[in-house]
Order: sequence, then structure tokens, then C-alpha cells
Amino acid sequence: MQDIQTIRSLFPILQEKVNGQNLVYLDNAATSQKPLVVLETLQHYYQHFNANVHRGIHTLSQLATDAMEDARKKLQRFINAKHDYEVLFTKGTTEGINLVAYALTDILCKDDEIIISYLEHHSNIVPWQLLCQRTGAKLRVIPMTEEGVLQIDVLGEWLSEKTKLVSINQVSNALGVINPINEIIKKVRAQSNAWVLIDGAQSAPHFEIDVQAMDCDFFAFSGHKMYGPTGTGILYGKEAVLNQLNPFHGGGEMIDRCTFEKTTYAGLPFRFEAGTPNIAGNIALGAAVDFMNEIGVRNIGQHESKLLDYAQRQILEIEGLRIYGEKAARAGVLSFNLEGIGIASDVGMILDKLGIAVRTGHHCAQPIMEYFGIAGTVRISFAVYNTFEEIDRVIEGIRKAQKMLR
Ligand code: ALA
Repeated sequence: MQDIQTIRSLFPILQEKVNGQNLVYLDNAATSQKPLVVLETLQHYYQHFNANVHRGIHTLSQLATDAMEDARKKLQRFINAKHDYEVLFTKGTTEGINLVAYALTDILCKDDEIIISYLEHHSNIVPWQLLCQRTGAKLRVIPMTEEGVLQIDVLGEWLSEKTKLVSINQVSNALGVINPINEIIKKVRAQSNAWVLIDGAQSAPHFEIDVQAMDCDFFAFSGHKMYGPTGTGILYGKEAVLNQLNPFHGGGEMIDRCTFEKTTYAGLPFRFEAGTPNIAGNIALGAAVDFMNEIGVRNIGQHESKLLDYAQRQILEIEGLRIYGEKAARAGVLSFNLEGIGIASDVGMILDKLGIAVRTGHHCAQPIMEYFGIAGTVRISFAVYNTFEEIDRVIEGIRKAQKMLR
């Protein structure tokens, strides 16, 4: 991997001071910072070839279309999808999951089953609850242990011809636990015809993704957590599966022919991309993919996992501190509480005064918090530009917070 200071110099925001201190940004699971190349790509599009895509024969429209379709191809290669038209541009993971949930309304029957896990973000819970309300289907939740490990043995009993979808995150946003998705997908294939959706919001920034090797039916992730702009993301769907779904949104660009009596739809991917897309954002997401490839996704993941190990070793030396999911295999995230300090946000506020950004609270995963009987945790989450010195600073900050709040 390139020298860490060279990588940091590509992120202008890392030079900022917060509360008079050098910024330490450790809230990457919420959103990552953006390298200059992504910022410049956004500006370059608006400054030089801003036009709508797929709509005009004029030069600017053609340039915009080519750039956006080129970004789609970069994303196809990034996740090793078979075809570029299996990559749908979305606003982010949430929209991708909702697209599938909406489309399944026409497919599910009463008493069909959807399986999710205890470790899901609200965005992989609520869309399925809404779908169950619309169809009379049932939601089943794979339980977890005190260590935050999913008890996937239940699948042996649960999977049947009634199971229509299994939707699981690859990495938990609240605890960072890596879920055994390969094993889960194998079980699903052996025992049912269910489709599998993998929520990759917290894995795509850290792992090499191969949707064909994984053999999932859908894979959703957000651009803004992997150095791209907000309001961008991808839903991958297998061609044969996407072809069975009705469109999510109706509007321009998704039709083949539209009359007042009847509308027929365009082919993939446009059938699922009604309206003017986030052209600048999608092109810049392609630049974020280039950025990650240049460093090497494996190198990024290895650097972050060294940071996580280092942080975990240091943090465990602090007395009266509990890491949630401490013994589980994890990526990118360390979630903890200080004993006797009931409110995680108090710790977060003290860290903020020291220029250190972390997330506190339930992390949009309230069932996990309820399981542990807590309101929330303090969450440190890593990106390629974080350093060991920054970990030292956050550890010092936590010790300070502990003294102040005791
Ligand atoms: N899902 C994002 C997080 O975990 C916002 O912080």
C-alpha cells in the first residue's frame, strides 16, 4: 500500500481543525471522507459536460451518458457482476433494499416467509415488515449469541418452499461482526428456492466483492461509505431474477412504449432507473472505485484490520470497558461502552471536544441494543486514511472521558 501520509494528502478535509484540534475522523461506517479525485470529478462534470443522459443526441448528452455508463462498468468489475446491466444505480443501500421489497409485493403470498437476522440495520428490517403487512407474509429473525454471532443452525429447520427471501448483511454496522454469508447461501440453495439479498453497505468499503462466486441474487451497497458521494449506490441483481420483477418507480427513461391504455417497459437496467439519475454522483462513484482499485481493496481491508486489532488491544487495557462482539470476527468497527457511564453520547461529546469524530447511539439497529439491554454504544469505525497515532489519540480521549464522567 502507498505511504499513509500520501493517502491522507488526497483527502482535503483531513487538514481541518475541529474545536481547535486536528481532526481525527473515526465515523467512517456512517460516511467516509472523499478524496480530491471524487470532488474534482463532480466539479468537472458540472463544469464541462453537464447534460441529461440517454436523452439527447447532442454532444454534451453523449459525453454525460458515456461517462455514467463507464462508471456502471467500473462498478460491474468492482463486484464481478456478469453483465453491466445487472448493476442498477440507486440512492444507496436503503433504496436498493426497498426496490426489492416493493417488487416482491406482486410475488409473495400469505404465509410465505422472509428470513433476516438479529444483526440487521433498520433498513434491512422495516422494508420487510412493510412487505409482510402488504402481503400477509411472515418475517423470521435468525437469533444471535451474546458474542454477536448468528445462530444459523435454525436455517436447517426454517428453510422450506415457503421461504421466498433471505436478506442478511455481510458486516453488521453496529458491531462490525462478519456474518457467514457463504455458509448461509449454501444452506439456502440446498433447502429452498429462496432468493438471497446481501446488504453490503459495511462490507463493500473493506472487502473484495465477487457476486458470482458468492452466488447471491441481490447485493446492495452505498457509494458514500466507500469514498463516493452521498446519494449514490448500487443494487446488483442477477439478470434472470431482475427480469421477474416489476419496476419500482414509474417515469421517464424506464419505458419501451407508453400510451394511456398500457405501458411496456425498457430492458435492464433502465426499467429500474426512472427519472433523471444522480449523474454527477454516479460518475464520481466510478472515480471512487478507481481510487480504491489504485490502492487495492485487499490492501485497504488489511490496513483497517491492523487498525482494528491495535485499537482493540489498547482499548481492552481500559478498565470497565466492554466491547460488543469482542470475540467475533469483525471488520471496520469497534463498538463499546464504559461501565457506569450509561449515556454513550456523553463520551462522544467529550471526544468531539478533542477533535475526534465517532458515532454514538443505537446506530439504526435498535434490536441489537435491546438484546444487550443498552440504549446505545460508542462506535469507532475505520477507513484507509486512519493511522495508529489517531488510535492513540482516541484511546487517550476515552480515558479522559472516563475520568470526567465517573
Ligand atoms: N448506516 C450508517 C451507520 O451505521 C448511517 O452509521
